[in-house]
Amino acid sequence: VGQGLLSLPPALLARIAAAVGTPTYVYDAEHIRRQFRRLQAALGTLPHRIHYSVKANGNLAVLSLVHHLGAGADIVSGGELARALRAGFSPGEIVFSGVGKSERELVAALEAGVGLINMESAGELALLHRLARGRAAPVAVGIRVNPDVAAETPHPYTQTGRSGMKFGVPMDQVVTLARAVAAERDVVLRSVGMHIGSQIAEPGPYAAGAARLADLVAELRAAGIATLTSVDVGGGLAVPYGSEPGLEPGAFVAAVAPLAHQTGLPLLMEPGRFLVGNAGCLLTRVLYRKRSGGRAFVITDAGMNDLLRPSLYQAYHEITVVDPTAGQAAEAADPEGNPAASATSASPATLVDVVGPNCESGDFLGLDRHLAGAVPGALLAVLSAGAYGFGMSSQYNSRPRAAEVLVDGERFAPVRRREGVEDLMRGETTTLEWENG
Ligand SMILES: Cc1ncc(COP(=O)(O)O)c(C=O)c1O
Repeated sequence: VGQGLLSLPPALLARIAAAVGTPTYVYDAEHIRRQFRRLQAALGTLPHRIHYSVKANGNLAVLSLVHHLGAGADIVSGGELARALRAGFSPGEIVFSGVGKSERELVAALEAGVGLINMESAGELALLHRLARGRAAPVAVGIRVNPDVAAETPHPYTQTGRSGMKFGVPMDQVVTLARAVAAERDVVLRSVGMHIGSQIAEPGPYAAGAARLADLVAELRAAGIATLTSVDVGGGLAVPYGSEPGLEPGAFVAAVAPLAHQTGLPLLMEPGRFLVGNAGCLLTRVLYRKRSGGRAFVITDAGMNDLLRPSLYQAYHEITVVDPTAGQAAEAADPEGNPAASATSASPATLVDVVGPNCESGDFLGLDRHLAGAVPGALLAVLSAGAYGFGMSSQYNSRPRAAEVLVDGERFAPVRRREGVEDLMRGETTTLEWENG
């Protein structure tokens, strides 16, 4: 299916849809392994540690797979901490990032004993100081730096490394913050790092950021801070969503290797999308077709609550008809799939908008697509949906969330059951127990 984006046989996808229903996310274990090996091969003998960014796809089966490959985890919430631990990561293999960790989340991280907690503000460090006081061993902290480098990404919302953004500690405040860490005996500065954006297709921004981190490490050492044991170059490696190539791991490594060489420190990295983006697709069935104001619509049983990226980022996802031949004859006879429709009301070659059932005009999976065979009942695969797909899904419009399935070779296993209506209302009540009299 697709142009090398996902290599699962259509017959297998059809079997999964028949067994589990739609909408369903399908992940290919072998693709994840392949991507991990590609990255490892590019890193070669460079001292490094890969911490998979759980936010990209936090399904326990995916986490467990990545853990068995030898990765650590990069988390951004207490929920992701619980997932990572449940999936088998040991606390020491976990890096806790994030701009707004709550006290409860920091306490959970301390109690679990996570390997590194990345600070993003002086206020957060002050809170951690207080929580860490009196512990047997000092807590390992990092500082996420905002290196002020521009990384072109397909949408402004996926850029994070420019000055004026909420992420990271501005360069000119880092030494002061590092001194504040060094002054406390309950915390110790182990890492400085960056994460400059997501879906970065060029090595240039990594090289620029890495150079700034190298200067920073030298500056910290000159200031007498010599406790660092790693430098973190974040994630963000682009994968193809269409015919564009993505970022070659070799180009990425060439851009960040000087940082390791100049500082003598191992690299941490936090890839998410690179490992799982093209490992997944979203299976959805065509419910109806209709025309309005010169546009042709294919209405599917998955929408923006299942896959938000098209609506949120105007992101492009390749969409294919899993078995186009099945629908083409029917489409030629009756493109709208309506019993009363005239066969001349649309041609099979018409460009269509693939839209979901959510009550929002911004609810679409793809616009202006050629989709021969997308008749009612046809099975579609929305490609490159392994990263930021299920994780960003919601129950909006009170739609139970999709099922998830893991494929390994010819086998497939459900790894999250489809939600039902009881899941929609869990924890709610009509019985009012007033708390304040
Ligand atoms: C701190 C941090 N690290 C890593 C990542 C992973 O990014 P990607 O999935 O693009 O590799 C993110 C994503 O936003 C992030 O915020």
